[in-house]
Amino acid sequence: MAEAAPTIPESLLTAARAAHGVVVLTGAGVSAESGIPTFRDALTGLWAKYDPMQLATPQAFAADPRLVTRWYDQRRLAVLACQPNAGHRALARWQDRLEYRGGRFTLITQNVDRLHQRAGSRDVAELHGALTRWRCSECGQVGEETGPAFAQHPPRCAACGAARRPDVVWFGEQLPVAAFERARRAAESAALFLAVGTSGTVEPAAGLVRVAAAAGATTVEVNAAATALSDVVDHVLRGPAAVLLPRLVDCVTGC
Ligand code: OAD
Repeated sequence: MAEAAPTIPESLLTAARAAHGVVVLTGAGVSAESGIPTFRDALTGLWAKYDPMQLATPQAFAADPRLVTRWYDQRRLAVLACQPNAGHRALARWQDRLEYRGGRFTLITQNVDRLHQRAGSRDVAELHGALTRWRCSECGQVGEETGPAFAQHPPRCAACGAARRPDVVWFGEQLPVAAFERARRAAESAALFLAVGTSGTVEPAAGLVRVAAAAGATTVEVNAAATALSDVVDHVLRGPAAVLLPRLVDCVTGC
């Protein structure tokens, strides 16, 4: 028999309904029900023999740009074939309702799948970039890529002819400064902070929960399993994000 999803505590609903500033940080778990392979799950089939460090570092790209861009092109096509789920849509609905009432809603994601934007979320702070955005490794020109597989790997820059790479954050690279600054400022002024589907192990994103807590926000974890954040937050909602987020948002926005 399926396990019943937990009831949402009344104290959390009261805080959530009163919150003028809501911040949500999402990780891979929010896209689980959309069938997006996690970073490690993407290393299956032909790719099973590779270590992430052979595919997701600037050194790997310099050593074998064809191999690295083939892997990222395959992941790009995989996310384009997936659809946003009820959890993504609930967050977009919450933003609409809160902003309509004059509140502030900031969505911060570590995901590179763009499913939040496809569900209707606006101004998403992408901490790790996006699989559908590619940039020239030399001149920096950036473009959206939502079409079929590239004709060649690595794809070439139309402006300067150099190799293009996915505009994602690789191991050893800095997070995008503007996106992270926006995320930090939002966390500092949040009344309610939710961490959804993230293991909370990757800094500095995980530290945002602590920033929000220190600033007095009510903090919530929505996750299918216990994480490093479970003991830090005020409320834990244990279960799938695609079930819990619609329920929470319906209760908070009252529709
Ligand atoms: P992780 O793969 O570390 O953690 C996924 C989390 O989602 C876990 O805590 C699961 O319990 C939870 N989860 C799984 N299914 C769920 C569901 N249906 N509903 C709710 N929660 C669920 O992913 P992230 O925390 O996103 O970095 O990892 C952060 C970063 O680590 C990634 O962006 C990537 C990786 O290294 C870079 O690529 C730079």
